[in-house]
Amino acid sequence: MRALETIDRGSGTPIVWIHGFPLSSLIFEGQFEIPGVRHVAPDLPGFGRSAPEPVESIDRYAERVLALLDAKGIREAVIAGVSMGGYVAFSMLRQRPSLATGLVLIDTREVPDTSEGRRNRLAQIDRVEKEGTSFLIEAMLPRMLTSATIRAGDRRTEMVRHAMESATPAGVCAALRAMADRGDSTAALRSASCPVLVVVGTEDDLTPPSDAERMSGTAKNSTLVRIPGAAHLSNVERPDVFNGAVRSFLDRS
Ligand code: MLT
Repeated sequence: MRALETIDRGSGTPIVWIHGFPLSSLIFEGQFEIPGVRHVAPDLPGFGRSAPEPVESIDRYAERVLALLDAKGIREAVIAGVSMGGYVAFSMLRQRPSLATGLVLIDTREVPDTSEGRRNRLAQIDRVEKEGTSFLIEAMLPRMLTSATIRAGDRRTEMVRHAMESATPAGVCAALRAMADRGDSTAALRSASCPVLVVVGTEDDLTPPSDAERMSGTAKNSTLVRIPGAAHLSNVERPDVFNGAVRSFLDRS
């Protein structure tokens, strides 16, 4: 099996950046400027530059990222996941509790899908198999970024669209199935012994601030940062505020 295509840049504390759905490592380009950090950002199978694989679970994505870190000799790292990347981060925490020196949970949630959410994912799989991914991109883009950002028409929107367009239909269907079947990560979050940073855009309606507040209340040692003027991809929309929050988290950890 081929290694995941990965950006590996900088030196210092390793941070593993795990992207959301249906995106790629490109969404972290604004984070690679955070100094004193070795930025490791894989493309999950079927996203960005990584070839699709028959991945059937979030645990399997986590195994692929753990294998990548093993190959790089990284034994300890901060794990940072956006949305679906957060689901993968929880699984990594469960599979290898000794790895995480910090956990950054970005616009994500620890609880599984509702039965309605699950049904929607299965319907989306049917539709992607028939039509491809364009309808999904058009439906998701306005939820990823605020309307003000999209109206600004700058690099942020172009980059998110580009990341979504690079996702393969096979990769998208595998991820939808994996997300629909994921379990509850409340116990993993509660037992995390490392410091936890929870970040949320105040205008995120996919994983709203109430999810972030609950996660922050569950973790033993957590800091909650709400980013105004940001929707689901708060790291993309407000890299200045986001990077500042991560830098102070690293300085405290
Ligand atoms: C994501 O951004 O990864 C997705 O919104 C996650 C999800 O659909 O649960």
